[in-house]
Amino acid sequence: MYSEKVMEHFRCPQNVGSMEDADGEGTVGDPNCGDSLTIYVKVQAGIITRISFLVFGCTASIATSSMITVLAKGKSLDEAIKITEQDVIDCLDGLPENKQHCSNLGVSALRKAIYNYLEKRDISNPQIGNEFSSKSYFTVKTIRV
Ligand code: FES
Repeated sequence: MYSEKVMEHFRCPQNVGSMEDADGEGTVGDPNCGDSLTIYVKVQAGIITRISFLVFGCTASIATSSMITVLAKGKSLDEAIKITEQDVIDCLDGLPENKQHCSNLGVSALRKAIYNYLEKRDISNPQIGNEFSSKSYFTVKTIRV
């Protein structure tokens, strides 16, 4: 059912934990299953230098949360905000059809954490600002198959 990569990140998730000195944090929940995820970021010179997460959720939500932190670490904010659900799924060598929605949590929480960082510092980044003007970035899809 799950790929080896998913099981690897489920058994040994990367970047787990809260972050006391986080520069930004984002929490999202899926109202259908009750799972929730918080992502913390530390940013230096526009680069995500540290990232961690706490999740309450299913196997796939743990694996996708772990994977998105791996993908976002070391990236610029502009690059990180463009990581998609499909990127996460591809890097995990796929997810079962009925578990693909679990990847929404990580993407939405990361974008919220970046937005929180920008808001706290009153930084306006035209590119990120425009992308965020579309509220779809914060929508956790709840469609199930
Ligand atoms: S079933 Fe809720 S995120 Fe996976």
